[in-house]
Amino acid sequence: MKMIHCRVRHRPRTSTISVVMCLVMWAVLGLVQEQQKAVMSQESYLQVAWHNSMDTKLPLPETNPEVIHPDIQDDTEYPEWSPRRLQQLLESPTTFCRRLTNLGGKIRCKDCHTCVIDGNKYICFDPDVRPVPGNCLVYSFGVGNEMSFDSAMLHLNCSIFAFDMTLMNSSNSMIAEGLHFLDLGIASINSDVTGGDKTQWESRNAHFRTLEVIRDILGHKNRPIDILKLDIENMEWKVLGDILSTPEKSRVIQDVRQIALEIHLDGLRNSTAWERVVAAREMEDVLERLHSHGFHLVHTELNTAHQVYAEVRGQVLPLYRESLFIRRP
Ligand SMILES: *[C@@H]1O[C@H](CO)[C@@H](O)[C@H](O)[C@H]1NC(C)=O
Ligand SMILES: *[C@@H]1O[C@H](CO)[C@@H](O)[C@H](O)[C@H]1NC(C)=O
Ligand SMILES: *[C@@H]1O[C@H](CO)[C@@H](O)[C@H](O)[C@H]1NC(C)=O
Repeated sequence: MKMIHCRVRHRPRTSTISVVMCLVMWAVLGLVQEQQKAVMSQESYLQVAWHNSMDTKLPLPETNPEVIHPDIQDDTEYPEWSPRRLQQLLESPTTFCRRLTNLGGKIRCKDCHTCVIDGNKYICFDPDVRPVPGNCLVYSFGVGNEMSFDSAMLHLNCSIFAFDMTLMNSSNSMIAEGLHFLDLGIASINSDVTGGDKTQWESRNAHFRTLEVIRDILGHKNRPIDILKLDIENMEWKVLGDILSTPEKSRVIQDVRQIALEIHLDGLRNSTAWERVVAAREMEDVLERLHSHGFHLVHTELNTAHQVYAEVRGQVLPLYRESLFIRRP
């Protein structure tokens, strides 16, 4: 954990006292955090948050967010299009879950009084969609170094397959009984990228497979996936877009019950207004098709750990959020 130094200036005496106080507070906070972490990792699956999604407390936008506006106003195509529908698909739940549960997550403190939680996921435990303890399958894409959600699912005795192709020193392994790590990324096409390709993770060999191929490799062709977690850094549009493009391809998610999706609207950071509209229409299309395949938005919340606001056709949208879609039988 990163050490945070809480500095207090002005009068030296008060300052010393303040620093001591701050350190004590920090220690207490740390203790509370450790306890919370322990609680989260051991018991959070038991802490059922009774939640009425129709009354969902959508996070309020920042009062004066810094907004990224396009540099070039070349936006003349699709004059009839407005971001209204996209915004609705992003923000408005179309079903509700009575047993919505927050799993995993890590608390990080930016300073002595600002803490954020990151990496937590909401899962619905209503009887018709819940993962059944001892008989559940979880695919978790883009775990990075943060596996608190996956550990929480492990306590439910689910079979968990965690994927990431960006970690430097990781290889396929069984982290614990029932929890497997695979050095693999999900993509819309199968490919093997050899090192030297100047991607984010630089000189690494990375392997990508489609969901269909991954299910095949793991022998899960006929085993329902209880939870599909995707935190794949803006690749979700390509991956889901491809899966939802034809009835044949979409069969691969017809037995998925819940999709915990970290949404990245990075396409809205493009420098030209036209590119933003193109990207926004693609996102809208993917979410629309997800909905028409029976996946209903049940919960969404803005990322507090990292947030950016951008404008598309006069509408300011926060770019990063966590959303849960469920498909009732
Ligand atoms: C998971 O399995 C263990 C060992 O079989 C059992 O003791 C535990 O109660 C199970 N947990 C749940 C949530 O079913
Ligand atoms: C990976 O492992 C090598 C050798 O074991 C080590 O030198 C390097 O620092 C590690 N890199 C990371 C990112 O952990
Ligand atoms: C916009 O930005 C995204 C992500 O940064 C990029 O992949 C894409 O090519 C850009 N253009 C359009 C039209 O989306």
